Amino acid sequence: MTRAIFVISLVLKTIISATHEANIKVQVEQGWLQGEELELVTGDGKYFSFKGIPYAAPPVGKLRFKAPQPAIPWEGVRNSTQHGSKCIQFDIFTNKLVPASEDCLFLNVYTSNLNPKVPLPVMFFIHGGGFESDSGNVDNYGPDFLVGNGVVLVTINYRLEVLGFLSLDTEAVPGNAGMKDQVTALKWVKKNIEKFGGDPENITVFGQSAGSVSTVLHMVSPMSRGLFKRAISMSGVPSCDWAMAYQPKRRAFVLGKQLGFDTTDPENLLEFLQNVSAEKLTGVSPNVLASEEVSNILKMFHFAPVVERDFGQEHFLTENPEKLLMEGKVSQVDLMIGHSTSEGIGDLILFEDTFLKTYSQYAELLVPTKIQVKKNPEEVFKLSDMIRKHYFGTKSISKDTLQEFLDYINDSAYGYDIYRYINLLSKVLKRNTYVYKFTAVSTRNIYGKIGQKYNFTVAGHLDDTAYIFDPKHANLNIDKKSKEYKIVTQTVALFTNFAKYGNPTPDKSLGVTWTPFNNNSEAYMDIGEDLTPGQNLDADVAAFWKSVFDKAGLEF
Ligand SMILES: *[C@@H]1O[C@H](CO)[C@@H](O)[C@H](O)[C@H]1NC(C)=O
Ligand SMILES: *[C@@H]1O[C@H](CO)[C@@H](O)[C@H](O)[C@H]1NC(C)=O
Ligand SMILES: *[C@@H]1O[C@H](CO)[C@@H](O)[C@H](O)[C@H]1NC(C)=O
Ligand SMILES: *[C@@H]1O[C@H](CO)[C@@H](O)[C@H](O)[C@H]1NC(C)=O
Ligand SMILES: *[C@@H]1O[C@H](CO)[C@@H](O)[C@H](O)[C@H]1NC(C)=O
Ligand SMILES: *[C@@H]1O[C@H](CO)[C@@H](O)[C@H](O)[C@H]1NC(C)=O
Repeated sequence: MTRAIFVISLVLKTIISATHEANIKVQVEQGWLQGEELELVTGDGKYFSFKGIPYAAPPVGKLRFKAPQPAIPWEGVRNSTQHGSKCIQFDIFTNKLVPASEDCLFLNVYTSNLNPKVPLPVMFFIHGGGFESDSGNVDNYGPDFLVGNGVVLVTINYRLEVLGFLSLDTEAVPGNAGMKDQVTALKWVKKNIEKFGGDPENITVFGQSAGSVSTVLHMVSPMSRGLFKRAISMSGVPSCDWAMAYQPKRRAFVLGKQLGFDTTDPENLLEFLQNVSAEKLTGVSPNVLASEEVSNILKMFHFAPVVERDFGQEHFLTENPEKLLMEGKVSQVDLMIGHSTSEGIGDLILFEDTFLKTYSQYAELLVPTKIQVKKNPEEVFKLSDMIRKHYFGTKSISKDTLQEFLDYINDSAYGYDIYRYINLLSKVLKRNTYVYKFTAVSTRNIYGKIGQKYNFTVAGHLDDTAYIFDPKHANLNIDKKSKEYKIVTQTVALFTNFAKYGNPTPDKSLGVTWTPFNNNSEAYMDIGEDLTPGQNLDADVAAFWKSVFDKAGLEF
């Protein structure tokens, strides 16, 4: 008797679990996907996960460096329980090739409900990593907090480095392949996200660092128009020195030469670069300015988005983004934009004695590259003296002036550019702009913690991401009584409220009201352990750097 019941219940369980598994299937335009149900790290329930979904054809062989092609349909049910390959890259922290492939155009979808009564808002995340590293995978971007708060989350891979951002200034390779990957992923989401319970009319694009630059570029790109309703820009805008490619065509020929192929013909160069193994192409340093030998991270990334020449191709960007914005050419979306306290803290690793000595000796290094390349040396020295006096007084640049050097990096590589974009964007957007400064510090600041060695306990570049995502590689504390949990809960509420309503504080539940930014309010929110409204973010930084640009006679 007992045994019979046991057997029956076992059979029932198997049937239920089989039916359940069968229910975690979704049909997208290319075919069926088999997902899985996973536990939220908070213990608050479950969610559905679909990983490694191809959104474009593998960009290999003759498709290398080219705009992405439509995804290839499959037969039967595709197993979507594992991430697809990462795109070929060196890890910027360990400087080693990571396991990856050129066939890497995959995205991941996470949802709490496949059939909600009202479709859920969608958050589409673009990872950072200098257009040269990282992926959308859960090792850095676990979905738990966001899916647990009523949104569908999409994370993506896009081609990186030379494979994503080679530009030969020809019709064959105009540039921005990696940006076109992002657009293709966004189009895929618009078309297919309803099947996962998502609302294609309620999409927020958000990104950090290079992903933030990408987010802002989608706001001005004709290719991305109409594909999203809201945007969140975290720690990076196109005018940052490192954000857009400099002399991309010249650089491509330098790369060919470094790999042993000397030519002046772009077609020959393309044939050669399509012949070389992807691993060999990656991690080369095709510098075109001597200053890049000193610091590639702060001065310039080798391969990044470009202003494309219009050959009649479908183009991502054919004008300078600041020019487009000044002309009011922008997608009308709700915007949230900001940065962390000390964006430069993660770069401390670079600031060794010889590095600082070089900065101390070669005055031109202090001048932002975008100014340096437009002015004659005499003017550059004058501007450099002005910057040096402002940040260092009469002190030399060394380990004894790390605080001063970090202030300088925070402002010159991030702060002032972000400040100017906030002002520019809020002026041309007819919808609300919300500005923040991320200041939270706890055990979840896994990137900025390098500063503790030098007694800097501040929120750094990337630290904000660990309060929105659960980086699985780090196994972080999420005890519900902890300060960490409190900050995560508040930050996630702000971000998901914005994605849902275009307003981070639509009601009184967080105990504060986040006032939109305009040239009267100059309002921002300090996102720390507490939420503290403020005014005039970076005003002192802006006043000084405006005087530098005025003296240089440059607007941007
Ligand atoms: C999907 O792939 C994973 C990992 O390879 C495997 O463990 C699982 O059994 C597969 N699921 C199905 C339904 O084939
Ligand atoms: C490309 O590879 C093929 C086959 O190995 C070779 O014949 C050809 O010369 C190579 N082309 C270039 C430009 O290196
Ligand atoms: C820049 O970083 C330093 C050191 O981490 C920090 O003390 C400073 O407040 C930061 N500057 C700004 C404008 O936040
Ligand atoms: C950090 O602060 C502690 C305590 O004030 C001090 O002993 C130590 O020398 C400081 N370290 C550095 C690198 O400044
Ligand atoms: C977006 O989603 C939110 C939350 O479900 C909903 O209240 C809102 O009406 C949606 N907005 C649009 C434009 O669909
Ligand atoms: C402030 O914004 C308003 C509306 O966009 C504009 O008319 C005005 O000129 C701006 N004022 C300043 C000082 O920029």
